[in-house]
Amino acid sequence: MRPTIDVSPLTHSLPLAQPALLDTPATPSISAASTALAMPSVLFVDQSGQLGGAEFALLQLAGSCTARSQVVLLTDGPFRARLEALGARVQVINDARVSGVVRQGSALNCLRAVPGILRQVRAIATRAREFDVLFLNTQKALVLGALGKPLHRKPVIWYQHDILTRQHFGRVQLSIVKWLVRFAVDQVVANSQASAQSLAVLTGRAADSVPVVYNGIDASAFSRVDGADMAALRRRLALPEHAWLAGLFGRLAPWKGQHIALDALARLPGVHLVLVGAPLFGEDVYAQRLHQQAEQLGIAERVHFVGFQDDVPAWMKAMDVILHTSTEPEPFGRVIVEGMAAARPVIAAAAGGVTEIVRHRHNGWLVKPGDAAALAAAIGALRAEPALAQRLAKQALADAQHEFSVEQYLQRMTQAIAQAAR
Ligand code: UDP
Ligand code: GLC
Repeated sequence: MRPTIDVSPLTHSLPLAQPALLDTPATPSISAASTALAMPSVLFVDQSGQLGGAEFALLQLAGSCTARSQVVLLTDGPFRARLEALGARVQVINDARVSGVVRQGSALNCLRAVPGILRQVRAIATRAREFDVLFLNTQKALVLGALGKPLHRKPVIWYQHDILTRQHFGRVQLSIVKWLVRFAVDQVVANSQASAQSLAVLTGRAADSVPVVYNGIDASAFSRVDGADMAALRRRLALPEHAWLAGLFGRLAPWKGQHIALDALARLPGVHLVLVGAPLFGEDVYAQRLHQQAEQLGIAERVHFVGFQDDVPAWMKAMDVILHTSTEPEPFGRVIVEGMAAARPVIAAAAGGVTEIVRHRHNGWLVKPGDAAALAAAIGALRAEPALAQRLAKQALADAQHEFSVEQYLQRMTQAIAQAAR
């Protein structure tokens, strides 16, 4: 659900992927050091230099095995510095003409991009030859990495972060993914059952044939934030000390539904909304529209646009409730688990992977996606009943710690990589 490329599908006679199920019960937690030892050497490839959820997932994985891995980015950006800060070796293989070919790119644009695409395919393949496994973390990385399989002949693993339906992607793009997965990918791992299910439908496989590895969230980063003195925390973040704050975290993009939160806020006098995040993939017009919408609704003074923030744990702890408002099925939704790890009540849009994380009135609150009235009612209910909000938050914290730990994520992903390498 971010810009990617359209190229003509090439097919190769390679063995069909045969993934094994990895959503088995967790084994005891393992340290990053032992993870590194168990790992074959891996070349990770990601299309983005920006910090999106897929990149945070890769950051943890690549950061846990820096001695035996390298990361290729297809665009430079702040993600590179974050990887390097963890000791990862990073190479940027960029081609402006390829980066410019977006989902709706014209046939002429695609044609112009072909030489650049071939150069990138070759460059990735040359790098990949030095490693045991090629790990592709985004769709553009999948295309460029998998197309080079006849050149590098290395096992290919793809971490699927998207729900692959026509609702989200063009026909050509889905066909490319389908054929590459069939003929050039040895192991797919999906970030949720919802994503896995969409791939199964696309490729005609059995529904349970795509293994799932959920993202892991470092709950300790949230418990380290001292939220006891709420006023002090809010002063530090320049937030209103005594207002009732709803926080919405994520890049500003139409399908993330920030406009729904604004509509809901207009129905909730006294509540403030904090929008944490920036338009990462060119959605600046949407960001402007959000400012206009807040003005038109007469709620601008209660809406705080704070841009992209590095210290998400502190910002989340400063909230009374965390919102998730995606209007299209969210493949996973790290921000939801982060809200749970912050021990805050989370209200989330019930579609996609979200329903695998949030159980209504047990560890959070589910609302119909795109329904501002329902969202406002849910916020109102949790505001009116602090004891209920607290009970949900307590269960949410326990679930985030037990079901979405970084240790489980690394252990399962390591297992998937090792399987692909065999
Ligand atoms: N995030 C961040 N700073 C911000 C907004 C978001 O670090 O200002 C992080 C957030 O904590 C989460 C990720 O960006 O880890 C977004 O991931 P998610 O899976 O929720 O959504 P995606 O953008 O990948 O669709
Ligand atoms: C993608 C999805 C998001 C998911 C993230 C990490 O960016 O849009 O839902 O949480 O990947 O898997």
